[in-house]
Formats: sequence, C-alpha cells, structure tokens
Amino acid sequence: MSDIKIAPSILSADFADMGNAVKNLEKWNADFVHLDVMDGVFVPNITFGMPMVKALRSHSRLPFDVHLMIIRPEKYVTEFINAGADIITFHPEASENPKATLKRIREAGVKAGIVLNPDKELTPWLDLLPMCDMLLIMSVYAGFGGQKFIFEVLDKVREAKEFIEKNSLTIDIEMDGGVNEENAVLCKNAGANILVAGSAVFKSKDPKETIERMKG
Ligand code: DX5
Ligand code: ZN
Repeated sequence: MSDIKIAPSILSADFADMGNAVKNLEKWNADFVHLDVMDGVFVPNITFGMPMVKALRSHSRLPFDVHLMIIRPEKYVTEFINAGADIITFHPEASENPKATLKRIREAGVKAGIVLNPDKELTPWLDLLPMCDMLLIMSVYAGFGGQKFIFEVLDKVREAKEFIEKNSLTIDIEMDGGVNEENAVLCKNAGANILVAGSAVFKSKDPKETIERMKG
C-alpha cells in the first residue's frame, strides 16, 4: 500500500454536474476532495464559496480539503466548518492573525494548515508549523487550474520535510498545481504525502487508473 494520498481538485470537474463529480471520486479511490475557493481579490479568479461545500457534503464521505484563496480567511472559517470542511488551509499573508485563525479552525475539531505560493519562503512562517496539521506547498501560482508544475518548489518541500522531522511534528505535506502521473514521484521523493490533482484526474481517460498510478 502506498502512503501517498490523492486529493483531486473539483476545479477541473464539470461545474454543472458537481454532485456526480464528487461521487465519482469515491469510486476512483481518491482520498480527499480538494475544493478551491477563490475570491477574485486574493487571486484574480472567482470560483465558489460555502454553499458549494454545503451542497456537496451529502454526496461524499471523503474528507473535504478546503483551500481558501481569499483575503481575511478568519472571517469565513466558521462558515466553512459549518458547511462541512474537514481540513481548511489558507494563505497566511492573507490573514490579519494567522495564529488565531489556525487556532480557531483546530478548536472546532477541523484540521488546519497554511499554503505557500511558489514565491513564498518557508522561513518566515516556521513558527506557525506547530499549529498546523497540513502544509500546502503550491507548485503553481494559486488562481487557476491547468498550469505547469514549477520544479523549483521541490526544494521547499525537502526543506519542510527536514524541519518537520527534526522538530518531531506531525504535519502532512500537500502539493498543489500541475501535479500529474509523471511528476508525482518527484513530489513523493521530496517528502510530500498528499497530492492535489485537478486536470490530471478530471481530464484523464481513465481517472481511476491515473489516481492509482499517482499513488505509485
Ligand atoms: C490552483 C488550485 C489548484 C488547481 C489544481 O489555484 O489551488 O488546486 O486547481 O489544478 P491542476 O492540477 O490542474 O493544476
Ligand atoms: Zn488548491
């Protein structure tokens, strides 16, 4: 059994048929549903919000991994939790108080984490890691699906893995953006254990096979 988990992003699914898209993910042996929330301010794109998370909740037993690309995530985390999020990650520079935001998420019994865009170093945020269940490292700039994987971020994954081990922390390292069957093994070797994949899964001729291959 592989220890790699796959979190397909529904950003690449058919927006007019989302209920079936998340149902399929269970059949395809995905481990999470990755939901990309964009506000048109923090990133130049707009997707969906709490109502989508709530509407999909009854269609899947998989954990909902909600990636917030919004400013002031603290204003909305409680609503996302009530809508059915199991994991909430946000970009720390978008929050007025990332520590308090992480704390609030965790106190509600939901897993919490921060997200680093490719140009964001790990060092300024190291003191947040003990409060995180997950570290999401972007391998594209947040905002759109279907972009090309940025190989340089693998160094950040290695750095994070080393820090996490040295400090005996329990934190999943998730990679997001342009992950596919070819580069999945590089992510895994660098230390990531959860891989987000939007287009690689939803545009695949055989999504189940793609997920299996990505698990390696
Ligand atoms: C980008 C999103 C990603 C994206 C992944 O802002 O956070 O989750 O949808 O899609 P692919 O795998 O197509 O890059
Ligand atoms: Zn994402």
